[in-house]
Amino acid sequence: MANSFDMVLFGGGGDLSLRKLIPALYRAYIEGGLAEGTRILPVCRRQEDADAYLKTAQQALKTHLRDGEYSDKNWKGFSVLLRAVALDISKPDEQWDLLVDVLGNDPERTRLFYLAIPPAVFGPCCENLSLKGLIHESSRVVVEKPLGYNARTSDEINSKIAEYFPEESIFRIDHYLGKETVQNLLALRFSNVLFEHLWDAKTIDHIQISISETVGLEGRAGFYDDTGAMRDMVQNHLLQLLCLIAMESPNSMSARNIRSEKIKVLEALRPLTGSNVDKNIVRGQYVAGGLGKELVPGYLEELKAPNSTTETFVAIRAHIDNWRWTGVPFYLRTGKRMEKRCAEIVIQYKKVSHSVYQPEAGKVLPNRLVIRLQPEESIKLVLMAKKMDSLTMELQPVELNLTLSDTYDSFKSDAYKRLMLDAADNNSALFIHRDEVAAAWAWVDPIIDHWRDTNNLPQLYRSGTWGPQASNQLLAENGHHWFNP
Ligand code: BG6
Repeated sequence: MANSFDMVLFGGGGDLSLRKLIPALYRAYIEGGLAEGTRILPVCRRQEDADAYLKTAQQALKTHLRDGEYSDKNWKGFSVLLRAVALDISKPDEQWDLLVDVLGNDPERTRLFYLAIPPAVFGPCCENLSLKGLIHESSRVVVEKPLGYNARTSDEINSKIAEYFPEESIFRIDHYLGKETVQNLLALRFSNVLFEHLWDAKTIDHIQISISETVGLEGRAGFYDDTGAMRDMVQNHLLQLLCLIAMESPNSMSARNIRSEKIKVLEALRPLTGSNVDKNIVRGQYVAGGLGKELVPGYLEELKAPNSTTETFVAIRAHIDNWRWTGVPFYLRTGKRMEKRCAEIVIQYKKVSHSVYQPEAGKVLPNRLVIRLQPEESIKLVLMAKKMDSLTMELQPVELNLTLSDTYDSFKSDAYKRLMLDAADNNSALFIHRDEVAAAWAWVDPIIDHWRDTNNLPQLYRSGTWGPQASNQLLAENGHHWFNP
């Protein structure tokens, strides 16, 4: 467990803090993950908000925790750690002095500055932290996407933060890396001789990485319309998952070793430019449709802007040009308002080279390894076996299923909890280095530029479906199909 620390939560009253960060800290508290003496200091712009913070946080917990997680008793204990502070982060006025007083000046005590604020104010915020003498050797800054809009703006943001914090004190969050099954993916690959020898173009036919969501804009219209699925999900979450699947074994689990392997993958991704963008990527936008029993509005109605061409869906056929992966398609897909919420990685193995069975036995289907990140976390291996109650030789696929949430009773995974505790403990293995961000943008930028230059219009798909038809055709061109959950 990390020693006690102070976490200053800039943007303490914002959506990210109330929906994700405060609940994650509460979970850490009830599970005994916060050492005695830990303090959480949410920063609010207005004094009234700071005065009302305890009520706001309690309400947020009641709304966002899972059933049975909230209790008045635990809230009482947790609320003692919270102390909201009111200050205008862009002005170094006397309001900051309260924060200076609260934090004191013990250089050994870990301080985490979590910037849950728009990147445009990262600069002034860090500058004021520095002016007020609040940055010392045990201080770390935690930031998260969107880190910029393209390679150039992301570089500007990173350079700004780097004026005040050394790279090793900058913790860039991609919350997908904190998901339990993502870490399990590394354990699966690098702790089992079974898989590592069957992890290349010789045995694997293709790989699918798909994150489907049922939600729409969730009140983030302005942000999302400027961003789109490519920047919001592909540049970060999907490419990070791709890296973990495709990278070589790092020499150790140190942040430096993992990062260097991930960067090699990003650099080996075959660039998609010009007409190759249209051949290998399907871009979509949802229209009204039925999600379960509910009829939901289309993107443009939700946005209240009839002309937006922002994509809410992307499907990509990517290739990694290196020794291990040449010839293996990696299909990446993400979309909002899709039929089901699911994040899944499917490793489809090749067919056996020759079937020894008579046609009556049925087809010998290729093995498949399915790693599900959500809604539940599971690892499933699909194998061929003999049908048990059959007198003749009949084959059928059977599943070797490890549902992690069933196996561990008290399993309460929370990516943010994990990542915040890692940051407090100065463990940066699951965080993103500046060079990774740059390498991901270098692949994504030409795609978005091509769409802009050709006035690309997204293909429409009905809410509650698996995206535009063209996404199925993309795979069908290679004789493949999506394994929808
Ligand atoms: C965020 C995106 O990074 O990830 C959101 O900005 C998206 O648009 C979210 O909804 C998905 O995260 P999760 O953990 O709910 O799959």
